[in-house]
Amino acid sequence: MRRISTVLVLVLAVLFTGSVVQSQSVAKFVTKEEKIREEMITISRELGVTCAECHNVQNFRDDSKKNFKVSKEHMRLTQMLKDNGFDGKKGPMATCYMCHRGKLVPDYKEPVKAKAH
Ligand code: HEC
Ligand code: HEC
Repeated sequence: MRRISTVLVLVLAVLFTGSVVQSQSVAKFVTKEEKIREEMITISRELGVTCAECHNVQNFRDDSKKNFKVSKEHMRLTQMLKDNGFDGKKGPMATCYMCHRGKLVPDYKEPVKAKAH
């Protein structure tokens, strides 16, 4: 898991060499209080999960679930993509769906050629 994350970061670093990685981007991802719920419903759909996958639903501020922490990182990553051209203006807009395609764990491996047929 950690190794793949590292690879991802490296790939992004290569793609966006020279760009400044900003750390306040998570705050930008969920700015207005009234937008949070809408945003949350969207990311749930994009990952094909329910709120409980990331949250202790008794306390939505609780960050003890592993996928809460991973999501925070990936929100930062998605925001970084948005800040670097994937803003939906000239090309696609960065979203969780862009990589996740409705699955919690993206099917990011290249398919193996079906030689055995
Ligand atoms: C894929 C993981 C994930 C899913 C699914 C998810 N959330 Fe979140 N949610 C987060 C993360 C991460 C944050 C913190 C964002 C931040 O701090 O910038 C958050 C923040 C919130 C907050 C703000 C908490 C606060 O600090 O006040 C609320 C409310 C919330 N989510 C509700 C929901 C609801 C309701 C659902 C289901 C419709 C949902 N979330 C689904 C990951 C998730
Ligand atoms: C640039 C591609 C990319 C984007 C964009 C992206 N992810 Fe991910 N995500 C991955 C990959 C690849 C993995 C699996 C490997 C890993 O964990 O590093 C993953 C894993 C995860 C996991 C852990 C799943 C598990 O159980 O192992 C969560 C949770 C997650 N992403 C949430 C999000 C959320 C929420 C967003 C949108 C705010 C998002 N991701 C955007 C590529 C992406």
